[in-house]
Amino acid sequence: MKTLKLATALVASVALPAAAFATDLEVTHWWTSGGEAAAVAELAKAFDASGDKWIDGAIAGGGGTARPIMISRITGGDPMGATQFNHGQQALELVEAGLMLDLTDVAEANNWKEVVFPPSLLDACTVDGRIYCAPVNIHSPEWLWLSNKAYADAGIPVPTNWNEFVETAPQLEAAGKIPLALGNQPWQSNLAFGAISIAVAGLDVWKQVNVEKNMDVAAGPEYAAVFQAVADARKLAAKSTVQDWNQATNLVITGEAGGQIMGDWAQGEFQVANQVAGTDYTCLPGLGLNAYLSTGGDAFYFPKNKSADVEEAQKRLAALLVSPEVQVAFNLKKGSLPIRGDVDLAAANDCMKKGLELLAQGNLVPSGDMAWSPDVQKQNEDLLVEFWKTDMAPEVAHQQWVANLKSGL
Ligand code: GAL
Repeated sequence: MKTLKLATALVASVALPAAAFATDLEVTHWWTSGGEAAAVAELAKAFDASGDKWIDGAIAGGGGTARPIMISRITGGDPMGATQFNHGQQALELVEAGLMLDLTDVAEANNWKEVVFPPSLLDACTVDGRIYCAPVNIHSPEWLWLSNKAYADAGIPVPTNWNEFVETAPQLEAAGKIPLALGNQPWQSNLAFGAISIAVAGLDVWKQVNVEKNMDVAAGPEYAAVFQAVADARKLAAKSTVQDWNQATNLVITGEAGGQIMGDWAQGEFQVANQVAGTDYTCLPGLGLNAYLSTGGDAFYFPKNKSADVEEAQKRLAALLVSPEVQVAFNLKKGSLPIRGDVDLAAANDCMKKGLELLAQGNLVPSGDMAWSPDVQKQNEDLLVEFWKTDMAPEVAHQQWVANLKSGL
């Protein structure tokens, strides 16, 4: 009888830890393309393997659609366990309203202040000295992705920079290709404008306008050249009729289009299509002109929940997202750079290696994206949509763009 009691106690002790940890967490995000889904699967796999359960809450339509849904659920008393936002101030009001879980104890227990690089990513999670998010990646929008097949079909060399891309575009068109693939959502043409600005005007001029707010420079010849370059680009994208960014990436993957200006999350699509960087496609950070990267990307926030079990599981997930193993597995699939410098990315492909090199060199665009008020940003986003979609003269768009900036001074 004694043996049976001992055996029963042993089984119970073995069973208990798994049962104690098995908490479901609903995680919302807007990663629904092939590459993004493959990357999310790495996060879910790691969380499930740790004994908890990832309940996937993917929201289609991109960040512009997903964020309002996330925010209304949190403010409406129907919080998810964790949710994606971009680095920056998108969740600031929710934190200030006391709706988000303080992760400072997790950050301290796991030395986030020492391991997260660049430190600006953790600064973006910090409000009044407390940490409220787990950064998960670094994405940069300033890339030109080129289809080696499209250029081979046209019998011309793959361009090494934006200027060559524009110069050889007529030969691509003669070969039946769409020179520039572009999806039909405002954030995509806005992203292309931002990338062309730094590539054509250079980082110094970009900083004079977006950080020092020098309106004479904004109205000057360097930005006149930017608006002319955007006018060139819109002609090259005229036959790109797709909607979503990953549909535009697919035009490059299949060789129907020569190139796409898009963030390095496009890498995930090339990977899912089993394409090899350098062989099947070519990546040009800074469009091959001024190789600087802005440290955009994503972080997870944890809305306060009523249950202590959920809060413990939220903290376990936060720690897991920043862990070296998950950082490698997730970022390799996502096409983004890890948020810590102490991980071994031996499997990084040519494009990720270019990004890591720029990160190590400090070729980073300052986070001036917060330099302008949401109102000015919205005015200029609307202006740029009209400029990309109509035959508005570049000098007219340039003048209006400067006037919008001046309204925010
Ligand atoms: C960005 C996000 C990336 C990528 C992209 C397209 O905001 O940081 O992870 O998913 O949207 O959906």
